[in-house]
Amino acid sequence: MRIYKAKDYYDMSRKAANIISAQIIMKPHCVLGLATGSTPIGTYKQLVEWYKKGDLDFSEVTTVNLDEYKGLPKDNEQSYYYFMNENLFSKVNIDKSRTFLPDGMEEDSETACRKYNEIIHSVGGVDLQLLGLGHNGHIGFNEPGIAFEKETHCITLSERTIKANMRFFMSEKDVPRQAYTMGIKTIMSAQKILVVVSGEDKADAVREAFFGSITPHVPASILQLHNDVTLVADEAALSKCTGI
Ligand code: F6R
Repeated sequence: MRIYKAKDYYDMSRKAANIISAQIIMKPHCVLGLATGSTPIGTYKQLVEWYKKGDLDFSEVTTVNLDEYKGLPKDNEQSYYYFMNENLFSKVNIDKSRTFLPDGMEEDSETACRKYNEIIHSVGGVDLQLLGLGHNGHIGFNEPGIAFEKETHCITLSERTIKANMRFFMSEKDVPRQAYTMGIKTIMSAQKILVVVSGEDKADAVREAFFGSITPHVPASILQLHNDVTLVADEAALSKCTGI
């Protein structure tokens, strides 16, 4: 695992965007696995800036997102589809027909997950998967206790995640209780993984995930077994990892 220590959120975002840019430049028709949440917003902003300067071309890129809330239509401002459109897809020259997320409006979970697995397989798998890290060590919506061998599946959000995500909704009761997410097996199948983390509130999660024991209680800890993981974290997020 490579660890890049960034000064702050802005520096973390630039470093992460550099790695994604390198992927696109080296392989213009690459498949990017993307994440939502607060952490990658700065990274997307930086990528958009470089696109606008003419330094990046998304025309051949395919994307598959980690997850989507079950029951939220694409035009709901809290849907991950909406988020991706707002933060990246509408701002660069990506072909929208090659941007994929699980279908949150598919009521039958089995169908939704099967179709998403098929999409990921049909595009040839993920070249570079971007991940944020949850306070409880979750990646995607893979909450503590999840089996490591799952592909895309439907999950029930933990109370902690509902509370953490509440800030984006009118009230706690508006936070969807379920989501479709790539499983750990899907995530681990990516050729390369890039994890972005910022803030002191994530320091325990970083220490446990990357320096603790590998356990389903800290889903991100499985990343220690992947052979190409890059962690880009700011000083605050790395503050509880000694010697870095
Ligand atoms: C996002 C996702 C989540 C977030 C995680 C961290 O697609 O799957 O695992 O990466 O909850 O969220 P932030 O970045 O908002 O702290």
